[in-house]
Amino acid sequence: MTTTIVVAGKGGTGKTTISALLIQLLSQKGVVLAIDADPATNLNLALGVQVEESVGKIREDMSEAVSKGILSPSISKQEYLDSKIMAALVESKGFDLLAVGRPEGPGCYCAANNMLRLSIDKLGKNYAYVVIDSEAGLEHISRQTTRDVDFLVIVSDLTQRGVKTAGEIKRLIREMRTQVGRICLVINRTSGDIPVEINNLIEQIGFEQLIAIGQDPNLSDLEVRGVPATQLPDGSPLRAGIAELARGIGG
Ligand SMILES: Nc1ncnc2c1ncn2[C@@H]1O[C@H](COP(=O)(O)OP(=O)(O)OP(=O)(O)O)[C@@H](O)[C@H]1O
Ligand SMILES: [Mg+2]
Repeated sequence: MTTTIVVAGKGGTGKTTISALLIQLLSQKGVVLAIDADPATNLNLALGVQVEESVGKIREDMSEAVSKGILSPSISKQEYLDSKIMAALVESKGFDLLAVGRPEGPGCYCAANNMLRLSIDKLGKNYAYVVIDSEAGLEHISRQTTRDVDFLVIVSDLTQRGVKTAGEIKRLIREMRTQVGRICLVINRTSGDIPVEINNLIEQIGFEQLIAIGQDPNLSDLEVRGVPATQLPDGSPLRAGIAELARGIGG
């Protein structure tokens, strides 16, 4: 059984950092497929691995091969994509990473997107966990790459805007056909208790689980030195929050 976790939320709230640390922790329990669904492709930096090939590039190559008639007739397009995606996987200790890269451009070959989704869904079944780091905002929710989500982790900062965006994401995903097991709100970079104004809003929207993660004093130094977030020392506030998150996920 695969547990699929999607990390979403307003821009700059800590989705990639939280995804990376969660992937690192879950990879001690079972093999993880990490999907960087942000076109900016930076989950690999937080995990400390290099990405060569993206799903976007594979889609473009296939469109080109089809339009030039150079895709061998003996191999189906689905098989072609399956093999290309396997080749694009970055293998690391306890996890494999797949970067989605550029979204479809003008002249998009839409059938390829559906086939890509199938390939990625099929691939995910080989893993104990699939963790998807989303791009900021709401738009990606409507073109969710995975149908069913076991845990939706919505990250917010300590702002009304962040929590309202979280509420919008919750509303949108419920409206779609996507099945979501559980929705957890993470309020990131807190210092002390969550202010009453923010708490009231959270209660009004209603989330199944709420986790507060403190401002981490160790992270900015790592960022300056270009060291991946997964190198945070034990006892960092982020690590404690991620452990709580993983317990909720059952990892
Ligand atoms: N708990 C924390 N304490 C201190 N700094 C943090 C914490 N969480 C995240 N940050 C910092 O906040 C910045 C944004 O984090 P991150 O890139 O993970 O956010 P994001 O939501 O993925 O952003 P984007 O929407 O651009 O993808 C980074 O510089 C990161 O180091
Ligand atoms: Mg990010």
